[in-house]
Amino acid sequence: MIIRPARLADSLSVLALRNDPDAVRYSPSGDLVSEAEHAKWYPLACYGSPVFFVASTGGVAVGFARVDILAWVSVALDREYRRRGWARELVQVACAAFPGDVRAQVHQDNAPSLRLFAACGFKELYRDAPWVYFEREREHDRA
Ligand SMILES: CC(C)(COP(=O)(O)OP(=O)(O)OC[C@H]1O[C@@H](n2cnc3c(N)ncnc32)[C@H](O)[C@@H]1OP(=O)(O)O)[C@@H](O)C(=O)NCCC(=O)NCCS
Repeated sequence: MIIRPARLADSLSVLALRNDPDAVRYSPSGDLVSEAEHAKWYPLACYGSPVFFVASTGGVAVGFARVDILAWVSVALDREYRRRGWARELVQVACAAFPGDVRAQVHQDNAPSLRLFAACGFKELYRDAPWVYFEREREHDRA
């Protein structure tokens, strides 16, 4: 697995990751992302996000971690490649590439994601059901 910046050519792989059943179930909207919506969003996200990395294996993007302009972190990994520590590596690399503190909003029932962010040095800030809010201080990388 290599971690590299997202490219326009990764668009369909990223759409599949955004529409993974777990990703949809635990997303704020709870809705599938349409191809048309993704086609508008992806180029802007790809080139406009402060950090947008993919995990690639065999030339295919099987996961991503993104930090948006407001420092919110999002992450998803193809279910076939989960539980190998890849998401953890992706999130750590993405956070290290962002110049400030970062945050995450996680559904309270999303056990893998709650565990992932805690394992990456995020501290729980507060809960507003069903959401759990985390923050990771930039200093974490220098500690
Ligand atoms: C969340 C997600 C990215 C985790 O991917 P992953 O590759 O399985 O995670 P990793 O293997 O890197 O594991 C990271 C941590 O989560 C834990 N974890 C992973 N899957 C878990 C599960 N099903 N239950 C409990 N803990 C789990 C691991 O044990 C590890 O913790 P540790 O380092 O303390 O042992 C993946 O489940 C996913 O893509 N889910 C759908 C999208 C999503 O929910 N994104 C987050 C939105 S906020």
